[in-house]
Amino acid sequence: MHKKIGGVVTLGVLFFVVASATPGQSRDSELDAHREVETLQRQRAHAWTILSSIVPASGNKQAGLFSGWFNEAEVFAAKDQRIGQRRVPFPGLPIGSSAPAELRLNHYGDAPLITFVHYNFPAYRHIRQHQLYREDRLQEIGRAGENDATFPSMKTIPPLPSNAAAMMTGWWPIDAKGLTPMPVWDPHTTELKAGGNNYTSWKRMVAIEADDSFASEQSPALVFAGRTFPAPRRVRLDDLVHVKVDRSMALRLMADTGSRKAAVLVLGRPLQAGDYLALVGLHIFSAESLTGIWGTFWWHDQPMEGSFAQDRPDGMKGAWRNYLMDTTSDAMLPREPDGSARICFNPWFEAKFPDGGQGTGVTSNCVSCHSRASYPTIDFLPVRRGYPEPLNDPAFATGRVRTGQLWSVANPPVR
Ligand code: HEC
Repeated sequence: MHKKIGGVVTLGVLFFVVASATPGQSRDSELDAHREVETLQRQRAHAWTILSSIVPASGNKQAGLFSGWFNEAEVFAAKDQRIGQRRVPFPGLPIGSSAPAELRLNHYGDAPLITFVHYNFPAYRHIRQHQLYREDRLQEIGRAGENDATFPSMKTIPPLPSNAAAMMTGWWPIDAKGLTPMPVWDPHTTELKAGGNNYTSWKRMVAIEADDSFASEQSPALVFAGRTFPAPRRVRLDDLVHVKVDRSMALRLMADTGSRKAAVLVLGRPLQAGDYLALVGLHIFSAESLTGIWGTFWWHDQPMEGSFAQDRPDGMKGAWRNYLMDTTSDAMLPREPDGSARICFNPWFEAKFPDGGQGTGVTSNCVSCHSRASYPTIDFLPVRRGYPEPLNDPAFATGRVRTGQLWSVANPPVR
């Protein structure tokens, strides 16, 4: 698996050289606008390539789905894995499980999602070898580590190898029988709220059908989070990437507060064997450039429409074709049409962030926030836009330890 992403790396480095040679200063000339479109296209093509290098060629078959990846709980475990030790099958333990409850970042809020973090082998090995899961190690780096290349008054963890990658996946619980309501993000019909735009505020709902027992295009009325949706469109579960829940996975997930809350909100009961988890959102970070290459994917029932559908390669098969994508590798460039800093967010993960002065999660950018990842633990909100402002941002204070863009490393579970 890591070999494949390794293969993509060469391409990525080439791409990065081209991208950074593209100036973005003058907003006025047509030539600049043209260059920005070109840059974006190249970035998009690359992000699709990264996704196709890590999903199984067989399309949506769950066997082998991300089998070479390590769950966050393995990466940040107090003890190393022993050879031959039985691993928890994919998708592993929910986000934050390796830390005691009081040390976890708040992952669920009012609109919980079943969420996992995964690392490829090079990322796993790097974090284990350098003991970056330990707080005392980060403290030692704070005292005697290398200075950060971009912010020399800060320290930094040993740089991640360029073939390291991490993923965040978000899943919707699906009833094995009957219809499960699921919100769909349609940005143009959504009234944006300053308090954040979590999925309970989205306008449209589809009805996911796990068995084939319903014959019509539309489902009967469904109630979700207190709202009635008269005739949601019916969607087959096979149109989403999904995994089947067995007894031990149900037990593992229901021991986690956020996942349990998600199941009860959607299904009206805890998850049980026979249910499914359907992939609704996927974040990928690839360490192939200094600020990282970031790609984000979300499911849509009209996946051929709009700018986020563009550039999808024919090689993407099956249900993977039903995900929209956006990507970025810079907190500012290429700029938005109104001249403001580049936006790149996932409706499932970031839309819920409230406006703290510079905009809500729907104007956020992966690089802008992840560049702030640093130890000691610091709040990742409010959303900021554009390049870092070291003088106005405590995340860039002298002596802090930058953690290679990874927020999970900035919040070490082993104390
Ligand atoms: C406002 C801040 C913010 C923004 C914007 C943001 N993230 Fe994150 N992200 C986080 C935090 C905080 C975590 C850590 C969650 C945890 O493990 O507790 C995280 C975790 C991740 C992880 C898992 C590895 C890690 O760093 O722990 C990936 C991969 C990721 N985000 C990708 C993305 C992508 C892709 C985007 C843009 C589409 C994005 N993020 C936008 C804050 C942000």
